[in-house]
This record gives sequence, C-alpha cells and structure tokens, in this order.
Amino acid sequence: MRISLEQTISLLQMGQVVAIPTETVYGLAALLSDEAAIEKIFHIKGRPSSNPLIVHIADKELCAKYSTLASKEFDHLIEAFWPGPLTIVLPVREGVVPSIARAGLPTAAFRMPAHPLALEILRSVSAFVAPSANLSGTPSATQAEHVENDFGSHFPVLDGGRCVQGLESTILVKQDECWKVARLGSLSKEKIAEVLGYLPEDASNDSSQPLCPGQLFMHYAPKSRLYLSRVEYESCLNKRPIVIGFSERKYRGAEKIFSLGSLTKPEEAAFRLYDVLRQLDRDGVKEAWVDSNIPCAGVWLTILERLTRASIKAPVDRGSAALH
Ligand code: TXA
Ligand code: MG
Repeated sequence: MRISLEQTISLLQMGQVVAIPTETVYGLAALLSDEAAIEKIFHIKGRPSSNPLIVHIADKELCAKYSTLASKEFDHLIEAFWPGPLTIVLPVREGVVPSIARAGLPTAAFRMPAHPLALEILRSVSAFVAPSANLSGTPSATQAEHVENDFGSHFPVLDGGRCVQGLESTILVKQDECWKVARLGSLSKEKIAEVLGYLPEDASNDSSQPLCPGQLFMHYAPKSRLYLSRVEYESCLNKRPIVIGFSERKYRGAEKIFSLGSLTKPEEAAFRLYDVLRQLDRDGVKEAWVDSNIPCAGVWLTILERLTRASIKAPVDRGSAALH
C-alpha cells in the first residue's frame, strides 16, 4: 500500500514499521527510540536477532551524542561520503542505542542516507533503524513493487522510485588502527582510499568473532539456482541456458538473456542487479548461467560478491547461522 510522506512519519511515530526509499535499497524503518517497533522488524523480515540493524541519521552532530569515537579520519570520511552509501561502525555510549537494535554488541552501525525522502523523514524523527526491506536471505528491494512482492500489497511503502545505487551501503569498521571493509557495497574501496590514503582491507569475519554478523548469513539469493562462470560461454554450453549477461557479449543458443547492461557501466549493472534476480523468480526460472567474467575492481567487485552469495543455496556459516 503506497503511503504519503506525512503518513510515513505519523505511522513511525505510532510505533509501526514502514518501508522507505534510500539511494541504495529500500529499508524497513522503525524509530530508534521504539524497542517494540524494532522487535517487529526482526519478526516481519524473519531476521535472526543476532544480526544488528543500521541506525540512520541526518545530523552529523548526532554521532558525538551516540558514540565515543572521534577522530580526524572519521571526520574526513563523513565529510566526503555523507549523505551517501557509507555505513560506519562505532563504539556506542551506554543507553543511547537500544541493545535489540545492535544485537547486544558494544558497537552500532551508522549511516546518513542520500535519498531526499529519507532525509525528509529524518528531519522529523531524528533517527530510525532500517535493514533492507526484503525477506531475510532474498535479494534486496530496489523498487516499491519488490517490497510489496515480499511483504504483501497491504504493507505500507513510501514510493521513492527506483533506488539510484541499487546495492547496499559499504560498511567500514576500525580494526587494529585501520579502517576495514566489513561489507562491500555501492561505495568502492578505491573511492574510500582517496580519502584514507590507503586501500581498506576486508575485515576478518570468522564465525567466532564476526565483525559484521550479517556476512555469516545466506544472502541475496533468488529461488533460481545460479551458476557462475568466468570461462568462455561456449565451453559450458550444452543446452539452451537462461543467461544473465552483458549487452556487448553474444550468448549463442541462449533461450533468454537477462541483461545487466553494458560492461563499461558498472553503476548500471548495480542498478539492475536485484531486479534481474527477482525477475528470474517472477518468470519461474529454475536455473540460470551468470556471466561473471567481469573486472575485479571498483563496484564490479561488489557485484561479483553479491552474485557469488546469491548462488549459494546453504548458509555461509554452517554453525549457528540458521537459514532465514
Ligand atoms: O544500504 C544499506 O545499508 C541498507 C539501507 C536500507 O540503508 N540497509 C541494509 O541493512 O543493508 P541490512 O540490515 O540489510 O544490513 C546491515 C548490515 C548487516 O550485515 C549487519 O550485520 C551489519 O550491517 N551491522 C549492523 N550493525 C553492525 C555492527 N554494530 N557491527 C557490525 N556490523 C553491523
Ligand atoms: Mg539486507
């Protein structure tokens, strides 16, 4: 059910969960101050309570209220990338971010979204938490229709059009005096390096002490089985496959091609990715061959990571992480 900006704000204030647009993906929002509403998010999404949520704010000064961390590097990062697709994990002060939102961790993840409607909401409500607005484990929602497909046509959605980035925010966390990437996203490592002066490494994410709990769960997967291949199309062609590919490549014999656009435009591929994964399920495609012969740099790296995860049918971690 499409709702107006005014309805969105009043529903949030009444303790409801609503779907809202951001520049990365749609989010399922609840007020940061409303623990009962936050609990509903986990229930609606089918999300394990051990997977914390991102706190969204529109006022950089709020970081000092919520967190004890202050540093020149942090100031430079938010100066360069906020509002925008960068999430930063910070140690939090006692009693300012409900434990349920941060899954009991001593840290919380913060981001300032760039979508004008998200910013408008934040001017009224100061802070909300929002995971991506999809059922846990499935591709994120980048259009209002995607949210309705997952949660039903009666679910309240503020329609802000198609998300311009199409991939989630990049998450940075400080470890051993260096900023590391806990989740790759719309913002490339190369862009972050321009500010930090070094290319951030991937944060270690072993299951005993995960720096980003969400990385342990199954993610982004459509019902269709995806086969990733970096080898030439012809060598794995033994039937008429359904292909996810690129406009300048020929896929002879393919039954159908879902295009991610041009190999020269990673932003376009990012913009299209989740819609294409969702289209496979809409069309009842059982299996598809993905052309993953793409560059290992910039936003392509995020696309490759998402495709790899989308092709995994079991939880990444075979320990405690249940399939949700
Ligand atoms: O672009 C985005 O980030 C979107 C939009 C809606 O803002 N949100 C999003 O939220 O992708 P979600 O919940 O789907 O993913 C958030 C990730 C999870 O992997 C979670 O484990 C991680 O952020 N996270 C949250 N709090 C954390 C913390 N304190 N430390 C480490 N990772 C954290
Ligand atoms: Mg998500």
